[in-house]
Amino acid sequence: MEAQEKIQGNANNKDVIIINRRSFFGVLLGIGSAGMGALLAIPVLRYVLYPLYAKSGKNTWTAVGDMAEFSDLSKPILKPLALKQVDGWSEVDSSQNVYVTKNPQGNLEVLSSICPHLGCIVDWHKGQNEFFCPCHGSVFNPDGNHVSGPSPRGLDTLPHKIVNGKLMVKFEYFRENVPNQEVVG
Ligand code: FES
Repeated sequence: MEAQEKIQGNANNKDVIIINRRSFFGVLLGIGSAGMGALLAIPVLRYVLYPLYAKSGKNTWTAVGDMAEFSDLSKPILKPLALKQVDGWSEVDSSQNVYVTKNPQGNLEVLSSICPHLGCIVDWHKGQNEFFCPCHGSVFNPDGNHVSGPSPRGLDTLPHKIVNGKLMVKFEYFRENVPNQEVVG
């Protein structure tokens, strides 16, 4: 009887050991699978979420014209731009106008034609030698400085550079109706 109980006891212990081994390998397999799944998911997630974390409205440099065109900047020169804007997965073609002019120090400057007040397009009034916004009447100097009207700042200046004799500009959009130039896209 005692011997039978001992045998039974040994058999139970073996079961426990076998079950424990199975559980251990099961857990190990589970962890391995989860880890592998996570590793495989990372590139997929990066691909899917890219548009969310990619900077919206990423602009590239756009050619404005040959530098020879801007040798005489006695008045601002209007230049249309064909823009390519990358926004998440989509590439958007748009057009904007810029004015090439000179700042008070006499250096070349590229101005956005978007009024900093509420976003209307300013016109160059040759007769008055000023920029004028037709929406609410803001007036700006040829160098873009604010003269009068509700605009809280002067016309926005755009980053520019000269590459192989060509003037290049990085068109940016700025927050409207605030005193300082803040890039929004
Ligand atoms: S949008 Fe130009 S003055 Fe208001």
